[in-house]
Amino acid sequence: MRLALDYESGQPLYVQIGGHFRDAILSDNLRPGVRLPAVRALAASLGVNRATVESAYAELVAEGLVASRQGSGFYVLAHAPGEPAAASRSGGWPAWQGRLRYGGYEAMSAYLPEVSRQTDWIALDGGACDPRLFPMDEFRRLLGQVMRRDGAAAVEYGEIGGYRPLRATLAQVLASQGVQTSADSILITAGSQQALSLVAALLLAPGQGVVAERPTYAGALDVFRARGLAIHTVGVDEDGMDVDELEQILERHRPGLIYTIPNFHNPTGACLDGQRRRRLISLAGRYDVPILEDDYVGDIRYEGRAQPTLKSLDPDGRVIYVGTFSKMLIPGLRVGFVVADGPVYDHLLRSKRCHDLATCNLIQRALRDYVSVGRYHAHLQRSCTVYRRRRDAMLAALERHMPAGASWVRPRGGLFVWVRLPEGMKASEVLPMACKEGVVFAPGGNFHLDPAEGEGCIRLNFASSSEEVIEEGIRRLGRAMGGE
Ligand SMILES: Cc1ncc(COP(=O)(O)O)c(C=O)c1O
Repeated sequence: MRLALDYESGQPLYVQIGGHFRDAILSDNLRPGVRLPAVRALAASLGVNRATVESAYAELVAEGLVASRQGSGFYVLAHAPGEPAAASRSGGWPAWQGRLRYGGYEAMSAYLPEVSRQTDWIALDGGACDPRLFPMDEFRRLLGQVMRRDGAAAVEYGEIGGYRPLRATLAQVLASQGVQTSADSILITAGSQQALSLVAALLLAPGQGVVAERPTYAGALDVFRARGLAIHTVGVDEDGMDVDELEQILERHRPGLIYTIPNFHNPTGACLDGQRRRRLISLAGRYDVPILEDDYVGDIRYEGRAQPTLKSLDPDGRVIYVGTFSKMLIPGLRVGFVVADGPVYDHLLRSKRCHDLATCNLIQRALRDYVSVGRYHAHLQRSCTVYRRRRDAMLAALERHMPAGASWVRPRGGLFVWVRLPEGMKASEVLPMACKEGVVFAPGGNFHLDPAEGEGCIRLNFASSSEEVIEEGIRRLGRAMGGE
């Protein structure tokens, strides 16, 4: 038992032992029903008398936190939710903790109490794909195979930049998408979220300007806010970023980075059209500003022709390209990557070392095997077929159940439908009613710098639920909006 007793403090040992368990119980680290360590064993491991431990436990019993069961030991009781353990500390938190500042913001929680009480609630608010499609058995076999084949090498830190064969495989995959690169320009990261964070920290000092779409991915806004950046937003329509507005921003504010999601934009689903892509590259050249291209679901296409990546249109290493396995495979692998050139790459590498030394070696090796034998490609095709059907199911359900005045655009890929609510209806007001009906969505405000600007929209994920669940979810949503 790792419980450090302080013999200098003057506080009796039984009070210290009791305090440790009290904190753990009140903070729910020790859940109701858990058995406390046996008195004799705990006394021996702490080097104290049994009577000391017994006194500590007696106090907890007297406080109603623990009960003794004849012959079986002491068990944690359910306690009323309320005061967190911190509040039970005699002196509160040390003063320096009052100076902590996190610049991010808390997205509006969709998990309202009404929802958590329902057993059949439907979640259309998520940002991920369907974990049930993940090839669990195949991946488990690959992990075993990698451990047998590579032995200790598979569980060492590995190269900072990432497992080289995975980077080489990725270079081939990217080449098929028109991005000519090599393993030496690819850095494997802990999801693309880490990539966004590393790039922002490398290129921008607090107070500097960054351009982001309006609306945009909430996690990117989080990164930019936490870094204390000046965020300039540029509108998005069906053809992606409004490049005329971008030009005005570049002229007026001279920002240090343009962040964009050109394919199946999160949250609107828009794709940047070909001409705008070229204009964006040329503007970035004229104003000498780098572009951070977030291609989080570029592969998940249901129809239409793919546009070239910005990276492939970039003649002089201005575009930093970010991708991920989270959406197409599963987010829990935490494998994303950055493609960057020259000094940017070298600095990102150093920064990565400061953050976590390297991304999980074992997972990278299994992933490399999965991708290189063509299974990834087959999985991609299978998943796209399923997600296309689900998209169509959601579009059909929206037609059936949305009230007059609601509108949406058919996404040609990705995971989301972005719905504009009828005039005057607010996402923050619909959400509690939807929760009562047993369905949740992502309110538009989560994707805006000023949440009030997103009140007229909601984002629905069609990829993570079956067609039947989608139909029922949209029916409930329609009811929450006052229909049927
Ligand atoms: C647009 C976009 N970029 C990046 C990410 C980060 O994903 P991950 O860190 O799992 O790769 C997300 C996650 O939702 C996203 O929607």
